[in-house]
Amino acid sequence: MSVSVLIGSQWGDEGKGKIVDILSDRYDIVARYQGGANAGHTIQILDKKFILHLIPSGILRENVVCVIGNGVVIDPIALLEEIEFLKQHDIDIEGRLFISHNAHLIMPYHKLLDSIREKSELKIGTTGRGIGPCYIDKYARKGIRIVDLLNKKELEAKIRMNLEEKNNLLKKVYDHEELDVEAIVEEYLEFDKAIDPYIADVPLLLNDAIKQNKNILMEGAQGALLDVDYGTYPFVTSSNPTSGGASTGTGIPPTKIDSVIGIVKAYTTRVGNGPFPTEITGELQEMFRKWGDEFGATTGRPRRCGWFDAELLRYSKLINGIDFAAITKLDVLSNLDDIKVCIAYELNGKRLKSFPSDVSRLSEVTPIYETLPGWKHDITNVTSYDELPSEAKSYLDFIEKSCEFKITIVSVGPKRSQTIEL
Ligand code: IMP
Repeated sequence: MSVSVLIGSQWGDEGKGKIVDILSDRYDIVARYQGGANAGHTIQILDKKFILHLIPSGILRENVVCVIGNGVVIDPIALLEEIEFLKQHDIDIEGRLFISHNAHLIMPYHKLLDSIREKSELKIGTTGRGIGPCYIDKYARKGIRIVDLLNKKELEAKIRMNLEEKNNLLKKVYDHEELDVEAIVEEYLEFDKAIDPYIADVPLLLNDAIKQNKNILMEGAQGALLDVDYGTYPFVTSSNPTSGGASTGTGIPPTKIDSVIGIVKAYTTRVGNGPFPTEITGELQEMFRKWGDEFGATTGRPRRCGWFDAELLRYSKLINGIDFAAITKLDVLSNLDDIKVCIAYELNGKRLKSFPSDVSRLSEVTPIYETLPGWKHDITNVTSYDELPSEAKSYLDFIEKSCEFKITIVSVGPKRSQTIEL
């Protein structure tokens, strides 16, 4: 029996979807613990490409049960679209999808406020999916949860109470037209019928599964450096993608967690604003985007690309307790003669001893680079570690030694078959 947490170790988009898909045939349950439809997990099976935003990638394995924990914020429209998409692809989800009755709902005013605030206040570069405003309501104790859908009268009262405040804000602060209460109440009452079969007491379900010796994989979205507590605040998301979020977001106690798997991209990317010490600019950035198809799975925005950053990864290991790592997109580096890697940071001429997560210092650091030789060899058909060019092995060796975690998986392409297990 094992309970593992799988996290994005950098700024998200590490390729978690593919690795969850690979690993999930070893697990009975995959449970998502935070974030919402801001995530975009891409999985390619044969020639079919699936992009999932809310439902765990384990849904593509027919024996795996998928759970959406209370830490996730659910946009019912996105959820129903995803359920429909899976049905259209003949993926049977009946009896395999469970949603926590305590998860919060994204409301139309959350999405609206997200986009208005992006235009008028500090530009975080959010995905516009209403994530921040929904978590704000959660912590202000006025959020609307899945369980509220079950009681028509209370739901209506809660929506009215929220809209009174939001409409005031829209009109008086943002000079925006008000939202129609009746339309939203009607819309959300409809969701109840569609979502009802999936609603469950998730902490009970998961802890019962642990008693029955089932294997559980807890799936994080986004990445450690986007964590609201440990990331590059304020350029972060509004939840805890770090491994600590797995307990609060599912109801599985920390004492039951056996290991943490970090998904690590072989270089670094970031979407949205905020400091990025190893960012590459100009033509080479464009090349990275092309080689790595570095465009957001949710918004289509081009991702910012940069060199591998061992200083960042050591910090990520520290706050997540990464035991094992899966290195993704190693093949993307195959075109380079030389590959730069950041080994540490300097600030005001002094080498820093640790990662400065406060953005003012992080924006000022100068990365110290080493250059490793490239392999200039197509590795997309390599299926074992031994077949990798020696330079690629040295690159992996550098990552293992400088970050002090064990690499157990290397991904060399988007397909299931393009995976090397060590
Ligand atoms: P939000 O989560 O939409 O509020 O966006 C906050 C920040 O997190 C922005 O910089 C987004 O680009 C980033 N972000 C949110 N979700 C993802 C993701 O799944 N991958 C990468 N970045 C993300």
